Amino acid sequence: MEQELNSLQALAGESLQSVSSNEQLEEFRIKFLGRKGEFTSIMKGLGKVPKDDKPRLGQMANAIKKEIESLYSEKRAALMATSTGAGSDSTIDLTLPGRKPETGKLHPVTQIMNEVCSIFESLGFSVAEGPDVEHDHYNFEALNIPAHHPARDMHDTFYVSDSILLRTHTSPMQARIMETQQPPLRVIAPGKVYRCDSDITHTPMFHQVEGFLVDKDVSFADLKGVLTIFTQKMFKKDLDLRFRPSFFPFTEPSAEVDIACVMCGGSGCRVCKRTGWLEILGAGMIDPEVFKMVGYDPEVYSGFAFGLGIERIAMLKYGIDDIRLYYENDLRFLSQF
Ligand code: DAH
Repeated sequence: MEQELNSLQALAGESLQSVSSNEQLEEFRIKFLGRKGEFTSIMKGLGKVPKDDKPRLGQMANAIKKEIESLYSEKRAALMATSTGAGSDSTIDLTLPGRKPETGKLHPVTQIMNEVCSIFESLGFSVAEGPDVEHDHYNFEALNIPAHHPARDMHDTFYVSDSILLRTHTSPMQARIMETQQPPLRVIAPGKVYRCDSDITHTPMFHQVEGFLVDKDVSFADLKGVLTIFTQKMFKKDLDLRFRPSFFPFTEPSAEVDIACVMCGGSGCRVCKRTGWLEILGAGMIDPEVFKMVGYDPEVYSGFAFGLGIERIAMLKYGIDDIRLYYENDLRFLSQF
């Protein structure tokens, strides 16, 4: 056995010299150190040697095994150094630039939504969210749009049942909040809205932010002030605002609000269709009928409300002319924001 061990040691040393790849090294390990390898088979003979010789032979075997193991580790380290270094037959080139990990970003619509919310939060508004699937009552009735009112036609509503629908605007949040809270109120309600409509400026789902403020002695001038600060902060420019008389059943008086064109500053261009103005939102003083329905006394309280489309603001801010780009999930478009 002693002889066997000695020649195994010599053989292992010799074989290792001709090992020049990881595959050969693995073959070496299996042959000499593996569970069914040479060393193990010699050790099986230890049971048959005379009792007196056992301790000595056991120690000798252990020392030889350690020796082969350490030769093996040295070889492995040597192979590793040549394969990862800039050596001639290297398989890994450490000088290559690394692959950049793809990092996710917020969708441009989400970015604008967050920006709009934080501007209003800085003006003391709190944020409230409500359901996308809404009762006809909140979407229409409570906003002074009874059944058969012609204003319903403008909404291209997706109905779930006779009285349940996908909200067509975020205005139902006015009624939901006023129903449960007392003035003074300063609230914005961001969220998804749905309309059966699709072309380069409309998608069936889009985002709005509703805002409203209710207190004693609120005037149209307050509305103008808040919206002026908002547009200044949003577009980082001192843009003129224009209020055009309009109609919404839940506000009186109502207005559509334009800003001086962000592209040409008002002189007229393709984006503003040569008018110098861009429409950005609807607004007005909350109609006394809406107050009555939530149990507020219109003689005591007044308030304003406004609703703006997020995709539209993002289109104006970034100069995008097709709203559908937001929802095609094309990374070449999305990664620009
Ligand atoms: N809800 C309206 C829409 O989606 C927008 C709107 C107009 C909201 C006037 C308001 C408002 O709060 O006062 O078309």
